[in-house]
Amino acid sequence: MKKLTENLYQMTTYIQPMDFTIHQYLLATNPAILFATGTYEDAKKNLPFIKEILDGWELKYIFVSHLESDECGGLSVFFSEYPEVTVLCSSLCGRELPGYGYKGDIKVCHVDEDLIDGELELQFIDYPSEVHLQNGLLCFEKNSGLLYSSDLMQQYGHGSGQFIQSHWKQEVEKIDLNRVPNEKYLHILKKKLLQINPQYIAVGHGFCIKL
Ligand SMILES: [Fe+2]
Ligand SMILES: [Fe+2]
Repeated sequence: MKKLTENLYQMTTYIQPMDFTIHQYLLATNPAILFATGTYEDAKKNLPFIKEILDGWELKYIFVSHLESDECGGLSVFFSEYPEVTVLCSSLCGRELPGYGYKGDIKVCHVDEDLIDGELELQFIDYPSEVHLQNGLLCFEKNSGLLYSSDLMQQYGHGSGQFIQSHWKQEVEKIDLNRVPNEKYLHILKKKLLQINPQYIAVGHGFCIKL
């Protein structure tokens, strides 16, 4: 567990043979939100640290970008500890999660429908990440300027607890067909991304980015 900013904490698993990191983030605002659960094993490992930081406060939201083990494999661990938690996800993910046994609250989030709650002002951006380029989401927290970029902006290397410096426009331009293998969707996504102005990017893998 690494503290990245005043209230942003990063949890990391490092896969040495691949030189690859898998991160989750706790934004310990009021209310608190977790970006990605990690795998079941990650969640088991991270839960005690999260409880310590929240110090009796509830975890109110878990943002799930898309249905994959590193994004939501540990959901049951957090649901057991925080049964009032609400999962924020796309409509596709919202339909799938109960099929995997998740019984908690789900809020399907939409583009152009911000979620404002206490210190959080969350904007959602379509992200064609699921198989066959179906809908996943990115999440931008406007008050802190934090963009959780999931798999969209990522690198190899042991980036735990570290920021690299970059420019938003440059990071958006760098997204290529390897990330979003459809020219039309890639163009739409880049156009949407250039409408926001994040201060830093919390990546799913690699080095976080200060802008
Ligand atoms: Fe993924
Ligand atoms: Fe990922």
